[in-house]
Amino acid sequence: MIKRQQSDNIPIIKEEALSKIRIAHSTVELEEIYSFYLGRKGILRNFLITIGQFPAAKRPDYARNIHEAIKAIDMAARDKRGQLLLVEIKNKRSSFDITMPGIAVKRGHLHPLTLVERKIEHIFNSMGFGIIEGPEIEDAWHNFDALNIPPDHPARELWDTFWIKSKISGRAGKAPKSKLLLRTHTSPMQIRYMETHQPPFKIIVPGKAYRFEATDASHEFQFNQIEGLMVGEDVSVANFKFVVQAFFEHFFGKEINIRLRASYFPFTEPSFEVDIRCLFCSGRGCSICARSGWLEMGGAGMVHREVFKAVKYDVSRVQGFAFGFGLERLAMMKYKIPDVRLFNSGDIQLSQQF
Ligand code: PHE
Repeated sequence: MIKRQQSDNIPIIKEEALSKIRIAHSTVELEEIYSFYLGRKGILRNFLITIGQFPAAKRPDYARNIHEAIKAIDMAARDKRGQLLLVEIKNKRSSFDITMPGIAVKRGHLHPLTLVERKIEHIFNSMGFGIIEGPEIEDAWHNFDALNIPPDHPARELWDTFWIKSKISGRAGKAPKSKLLLRTHTSPMQIRYMETHQPPFKIIVPGKAYRFEATDASHEFQFNQIEGLMVGEDVSVANFKFVVQAFFEHFFGKEINIRLRASYFPFTEPSFEVDIRCLFCSGRGCSICARSGWLEMGGAGMVHREVFKAVKYDVSRVQGFAFGFGLERLAMMKYKIPDVRLFNSGDIQLSQQF
């Protein structure tokens, strides 16, 4: 530590300061020395203040000496500071080399299902469809009854259901009280939407659905669907065919051949399965389309009049189409993903590919 000295012998003080500066080891030490001599309360500054106490004759010499010492010390400190800084930066580099390549930050990536959902929403949005969401915990009335599937109807067996224990839902004046379940499809949102809106309208409903069944390469007990519903005074099968064709062509980015096959759903009449010409073999037959040349994309049909009755629409005035496609299936076809279970594997390597 530097001790304050009371000597007024300026040349000695100057030499002493210069030699201390010369041997200073660090910028911190240098600043300490500097402020001891030249700081606000430094020795030499103190001398400047006391100049007035000197006999007038000696004053000019004295002042010149002080100023000369200050200048010399200041310059020496400046030089030394530059040298010490260089050394210190160099030393720091040995432990922190700013020129070294950094550790790459791992970037997050959107899940293929998210990418596909966004793309689908974008396409339907551009055709004027609204995007609606709804509850995954549903009541049996919206999931079944209002969709023309009464409790004793054998078609209920088509949807293996996760029931929720002893919970009953339903408000007075609205849907009748019924048991809760995990929705087995997104179709109950047809009912929820029509209960609160009047035609004409066109919507899609992306969302999760659940079925109590074993998993394999193409089945999961939790999966995603895209429900579609368009209702108006003169909505026809032709409108449906045009909309799905346009959708598939935008989605897959190429010309698509579609085919409607007769099928059965309690809430549509007539009902169809929607197939597209196999994307992988162009219809020649391959392992992906099971040699049939066609890929099943989902169910669809014209909304059943019993469904319109359940939401108190005037069945003589409205008609419409509905469809339900599996999001996983669309993603698997688009990205050639072979196993539906990969989507929930949590494996980041899956997402990073798309
Ligand atoms: N909800 C049906 C299913 O999950 C699909 C569907 C939706 C069929 C709309 C027709 C109309 O199997």
